Amino acid sequence: MESTARVKLYVAISFLYNAEDWFRFATVNESEANMEIIIKPDYPAVCDEAAGMILKAWKKKPNLVLGLATGKTPLGLYEKLIALHRSGQMDFSEVVTFSLDEYYGLDESHPQSFAAYMDHHLYKHINIRPENVHRLHGRPQDIEEHCRAYERKIRSVGGIDIQVLGIGKNGHIGFNEPGSSLTSRTRLKALTRETVEANASLFTDEEEIPRFSLTMGIGTILESKMILLLASGEDKADIVARAVEGPLTAFVPASILQLHPQAKFILDEEAAARLTLKDYYRWAFENKGRLSASKEKG
Ligand code: GLP
Repeated sequence: MESTARVKLYVAISFLYNAEDWFRFATVNESEANMEIIIKPDYPAVCDEAAGMILKAWKKKPNLVLGLATGKTPLGLYEKLIALHRSGQMDFSEVVTFSLDEYYGLDESHPQSFAAYMDHHLYKHINIRPENVHRLHGRPQDIEEHCRAYERKIRSVGGIDIQVLGIGKNGHIGFNEPGSSLTSRTRLKALTRETVEANASLFTDEEEIPRFSLTMGIGTILESKMILLLASGEDKADIVARAVEGPLTAFVPASILQLHPQAKFILDEEAAARLTLKDYYRWAFENKGRLSASKEKG
């Protein structure tokens, strides 16, 4: 099928399944309804920008609902959030979080579990309440019910305000590997051979290497009110260019973010290197700064 026909089909199917959410997208204030590309000089500046956006949102809504990713990329952001907490600028006592994904088959206590990662890199350093931390469990008794309950929980708190994402080298977001349905919900997902191989060195026992994961679906992610996708380093430059400027396709799951009115790709120069329109994105972002400054002046 031609790619334009495929896009139309996805949009039509997704509309039928999630009419209410697409209606919300379509009715977002025109001036806000744009995916945005923000290019920063280096990785610390990427993390500063993302932390600044989270802080700004928290000031308006202290019970902010965050969706949080793992991997190397968000580590610097979590350090900044911890610093904001330690300096008394951000209080997490009402903040609610949801993990984006988890390896299937690992207990929370396993050092490579995403639960352990989040505890180690963020939760144990801030004053978040344990009951406000929501996770996908690696060994649920009933996988489907666990995934459905997770979706219900997200809805019960009014949805995710800000979803933080990294990007896999094959374009995956969460563990939505290439070919994932663009309307998918939280579910069990087989990892690709390359993802399994990339993880192999972290496990001493070959039997333990996860081959499946539980992940929020692409449809779940798209319902977040704002999405911050962070990418750093030259090894992400190709996939970032395909996600931002390539066709919208399930073969590059992150490309679906082109349809989200509040998706922000926050990139360092290396990760932005292959973007054809990078000068324009820079120019547009600088001018946006001028616009808000002149609005503030009145
Ligand atoms: C894993 C995670 C993703 C993450 C990706 C990239 O597969 N499930 O959420 O975005 O890796 O990781 P890194 O930031 O280490 O490049």
